[in-house]
Amino acid sequence: MKITALLTQFLNGKISRRQLTDRILGLGFGMATVESILNNVPAAQAKPAETFRPEPYSVRTPYGQSMATAGVPSHTGYSAPNVRTLEVKPWPRMGASGAFIDLTGAEGTDGAYICEFQPGSTTKPQRYLFEESVFVLEGEGETTIWQEGGRKQTFRWRKGGMFSPPLNVWRQHSNRGSTPARLISFHDLPLMMDVLHNAEFLFDNPFVFRDRYNHDPDYFTFKPSNVRAGGTPAMFSEGEHGAVMISDTGFVPDINQVRLQEAKSRGLKNKGMEIVFSDNTMQTHISEFETGSYKRAHRHGPGSHVMILGGVGYTLLWTDLPQYSKAPKHVRVDWTEGTLLVPPDRWFHQHFNAGGDAAKYMATTWIGGKYFAKAMGGGGRTHRLNTISTHQGGNMVDYPDEDPAVRSIFEEELKKNGLKSRMPGKS
Ligand SMILES: [Fe+2]
Repeated sequence: MKITALLTQFLNGKISRRQLTDRILGLGFGMATVESILNNVPAAQAKPAETFRPEPYSVRTPYGQSMATAGVPSHTGYSAPNVRTLEVKPWPRMGASGAFIDLTGAEGTDGAYICEFQPGSTTKPQRYLFEESVFVLEGEGETTIWQEGGRKQTFRWRKGGMFSPPLNVWRQHSNRGSTPARLISFHDLPLMMDVLHNAEFLFDNPFVFRDRYNHDPDYFTFKPSNVRAGGTPAMFSEGEHGAVMISDTGFVPDINQVRLQEAKSRGLKNKGMEIVFSDNTMQTHISEFETGSYKRAHRHGPGSHVMILGGVGYTLLWTDLPQYSKAPKHVRVDWTEGTLLVPPDRWFHQHFNAGGDAAKYMATTWIGGKYFAKAMGGGGRTHRLNTISTHQGGNMVDYPDEDPAVRSIFEEELKKNGLKSRMPGKS
């Protein structure tokens, strides 16, 4: 009876996995009994995690309605100044604290959420019929994944790590450090929820994707041998296929340690790498550009979640015309480590490094890395053409074509910081 009471406390998030283990051992049972109980926990919890039903004929999308019922804040706008400090509130479904980030530029394709949990605590198991890529903003811990009735696999992570539980596996995170663990998940639930509008199907679906995950013990071991030249036409201009390096993995221990490759087509003094996690359609692009430099202006479809990993600078975003100062609408986002921004659909945007060190960001988006798709933003309409000049019908503004105002603003910013431009041409 005592074990049942302890199990209830654990399932309700009142005690951690470690406390549950210690207390069962304290009752005189052996480790084999503890493991047997813990292995049966998912079966006991295999019931709908999400019972939400969207209202039809609403001005809000099914995904928008689902966020409103979760009881956690939803952060909106063009950007979030710092995802490390964004307000979170208790999130009953997760057994943690959390918040949604629903930025304008996502346009209902993909989204993000924060999940924060305390030392010694474990989140409630979840399984999702949507993809997510999880970046560790703070803390250290481990994640256990398993398929229905299958073996469990656990991997450790710490600040700077990024991983993706494969599609629809059960997942449970534990904080193994002495400070709160804060994760940010980039996911394609908005698209899936708006198309299917059935939470039970998305959060409690027994289908097992063995094609994506089949108990490979090395699934969450990062292997440099998995880095290759490749990708789909969504990543390239015509004729430069193979110019991008892509890493195909379940886990990257430290995003900042990934070796980047020269990527001149995106801008001078620019390096990058694409990462596809866990056979997903989602992809993550990492980019670094030096002090005193900026990237070429370009535009593409919605949903690219640009998160700043280091450096100081700003991004200009504008509508309709390649020339910044002639555009009818402008937005400026000043950034530092932890800023998140999403350029809206077909808005031109340009990233500027105004600090004394290299600037680095990663951008996770919803489709088009390993599996080519021609839907909006995924390739056919805009994304594939973002390294082709606007002169040739593409969506990249070449440096000689850029609005002189862009260079003036940049030089003014550098002057404020006592820095000089390293861009060729004027001054
Ligand atoms: Fe972009």
